Amino acid sequence: MSWKPNKLRTISFYLLFLILPLVAYKRAEGLKDYYKDYFPIGVAVKPSDLRSDEKSLILTHFSSITAENAMKMGPIHPFEKKYFWQIADSIVQFGLDHQLKIRGHCLVWHGQTPRWLFKDSTGNQVNKEVLLSRIKDHINTVVSRYRGKIYAWDVVNEAIADDTSTYRKSQLYQIAGEEFIEQAFRYAHAADPKAVLFYNDYNTENPIKREKIYTMLKKLLAKGVPIHGVGLQAHWSVNNPSRSELEKSIELFSSLGLQIQFTELDISVFPGRQGGQLITGEKSLDKTAFTPEMEQQQLEKYKMVFEVFRKYKKHITGVTFWNLSDRYSWLDGRGRKNFPLLFDTDLQPKKAYYEVTRF
Ligand code: G3I
Repeated sequence: MSWKPNKLRTISFYLLFLILPLVAYKRAEGLKDYYKDYFPIGVAVKPSDLRSDEKSLILTHFSSITAENAMKMGPIHPFEKKYFWQIADSIVQFGLDHQLKIRGHCLVWHGQTPRWLFKDSTGNQVNKEVLLSRIKDHINTVVSRYRGKIYAWDVVNEAIADDTSTYRKSQLYQIAGEEFIEQAFRYAHAADPKAVLFYNDYNTENPIKREKIYTMLKKLLAKGVPIHGVGLQAHWSVNNPSRSELEKSIELFSSLGLQIQFTELDISVFPGRQGGQLITGEKSLDKTAFTPEMEQQQLEKYKMVFEVFRKYKKHITGVTFWNLSDRYSWLDGRGRKNFPLLFDTDLQPKKAYYEVTRF
């Protein structure tokens, strides 16, 4: 049978049609697809991430978003009688438009609080009743606005101390004692009974801090406080945490019947403990290069933590990266650039990405 050129052309044309979509589909696979049978993979976003090349990276690799700053009390509720919804609304709309899960961050935190929160009209510090009433009004207004759109909230953030005391001596605690924690969860649950409510903190693999958080959560759960999960922020570094401490944290908190989410994952290329606002254990080094040894240490740490995440998938309901790529990280500054994420400054996958997706 002679294969006439035009017959060959026709066959190859149809073959191309068959193969192209497969190739395109393969290209579209991202982190979220590798982990679709484990847990949603999320990312903390700022407005500039929702356009251009950052936007396509989000849509390829992630199935959940968190507003990095826009929903915190200071940015969203800058004056007692005035809310600023625009940026938070735009992030929620982006999530809805692209069928992404949306995490709310955060309702009550000692960081980025607005000046008016603790002062009365005469400039004096408010008492416990006034503070709790203001917190209730804030939580009710914000959670109700996004009811049915935001599935989970970081209700209270970083209330446990890093020093020898139990509770952080924030103004929240100084005025209302530990009660602000319980009430915040009760207010949030009343505003949206379907929302999944998290206590969120960092350095949760540190045995002393872990025990303090566990004791607080156990006490609150025993009182029937509606807490559904614990957010382990996971602001880690190339030498922290160890596999055993990470596994101990997952086992301890899941023993309370709580969902676990890793809510702010990044792995600093500089050694030392950090988390939240803290970068302790070493001075700002004037480093701007992502060296091969940094890369090797970081990919080994990412490989390990994702092995543990997969091992404990029945307890883990989300893993969210804090920032999208090395192009920008909250860890930048202090005289140095950090490279804590899976995508480089050109938004390309780093070697660590392939360690996390090869299993
Ligand atoms: O929006 C203002 C801008 O108008 C102003 O010109 C500029 C310069 O002062 O500041 C801008 O606000 C900054 C904001 O980020 C938005 O960029 C604040 O100063 C800055 O403090 C704030 O930093 C954020 C930090 O929380 C606040 O403590 C980081 O982006 C954010 O990544 C970080 O995230 C926290 C989590 O919410 C909780 N867990 C720890 C994590 C890291 O600290």
